[in-house]
Amino acid sequence: MSEQKALVLESKQGRFVVSTRSKPNVVPAGELLVKIKASALNPVEWKVQAFGMFIEKYPAVLGSDIAGDVETVGEGVTGFSKGDRVLFQGSFANNDYAGFQQYALVPAEIAAKARNISYTQAASVPVGLTTASVGLFANEPAGVGLNPSFDANVRHSGPTMVIGGSTSVGQFSIQLLRLVKFSPIIAYASAHQFDYLKSLGATEFIDRKQVSFSDLPAAVKKITSEPVKVVYDAFSSADSQQAGYDTLADGGTVIVTTGDQVKNKVDGKKVLAVWGSARPPLNREFGKVQYRNLTKYLQEGTIVPNRTEELPNGLAGIPDGLERLKNNQVSGTKLISLPQETA
Ligand SMILES: NC(=O)c1ccc[n+]([C@@H]2O[C@H](COP(=O)([O-])OP(=O)(O)OC[C@H]3O[C@@H](n4cnc5c(N)ncnc54)[C@H](OP(=O)(O)O)[C@@H]3O)[C@@H](O)[C@H]2O)c1
Repeated sequence: MSEQKALVLESKQGRFVVSTRSKPNVVPAGELLVKIKASALNPVEWKVQAFGMFIEKYPAVLGSDIAGDVETVGEGVTGFSKGDRVLFQGSFANNDYAGFQQYALVPAEIAAKARNISYTQAASVPVGLTTASVGLFANEPAGVGLNPSFDANVRHSGPTMVIGGSTSVGQFSIQLLRLVKFSPIIAYASAHQFDYLKSLGATEFIDRKQVSFSDLPAAVKKITSEPVKVVYDAFSSADSQQAGYDTLADGGTVIVTTGDQVKNKVDGKKVLAVWGSARPPLNREFGKVQYRNLTKYLQEGTIVPNRTEELPNGLAGIPDGLERLKNNQVSGTKLISLPQETA
């Protein structure tokens, strides 16, 4: 088969349309061709369509959270065989590497086998985990350098907070902060998510429907008098970033997932805007370390996937799912498309 189905964004701020495009017929050295079984939705995809950001070349294929089966192994690749179930992050830079289609290429060094979890669960991991891990674990300037070797024996101490604890990125941030032993781990989220976030490692909770961003630093002070050196703001509006920054002690850093919008900065406190991808040169070495360790961490349950909801109608179901993300109608769950079920 040389053709595949793909969900194509026809033009800048245009329509998503299911159509046909060629399946990559050459697999570059060091890469894998993967038959995509599950592809997760992320907020960036509705933002690309609504605001025309990040992409200049159209028609474009989006989708950056992928799980599937290795179909072809490129020259020089070791450790992967045809039929292996893998997970990896897609890229918008070249349509052949994106997720909203039935086949994609990936450099093998930034893919991992998924042994004990479903395709749907596996697709929920790459973007959320990498955005959390680069910000928290990778060395500066990519991250704050808490655990660049992604080692389960690295130890830290002291309090921390995750704003947007139930976002996909927030769920992985909580798990990584638990791995390196921060305590307490404060989660700012909706109350109906507290039990779930506790199972991931959060120990203290602030209800986002009861406490505004402007009151958040004072609410944290009621929980701990220790200096807060790391805040992960997975939600990252201007107000949430400011709340995270204002919570920090001297020498602390707030990691943000959108551009830095913090005002009134002072010496000694930092804002780090993370790029949640293993692909760029800045993040690549850390990304390779992460993907080398990921199969084991998923197998042990040290890192657990997000909760998921499978969407109907294969690739055609994605636009409705993106609309739900845009309208803030999804709480603590990753929406997953099954591209092989496209009519
Ligand atoms: N820089 C990068 O490379 C990068 C990578 C990935 C994502 N991002 C960005 O990071 C953000 C999070 O992405 P995601 O995929 O993790 O999001 P997501 O899972 O789609 O976020 C949904 C969650 O947002 C929470 N939320 C809504 N309003 C909130 C508020 N006022 N305060 C706190 N939480 C609130 C909801 O929490 P409740 O359940 O508590 O109501 C819901 O669970 C997005 O802006 C995304 O574009 C950036």
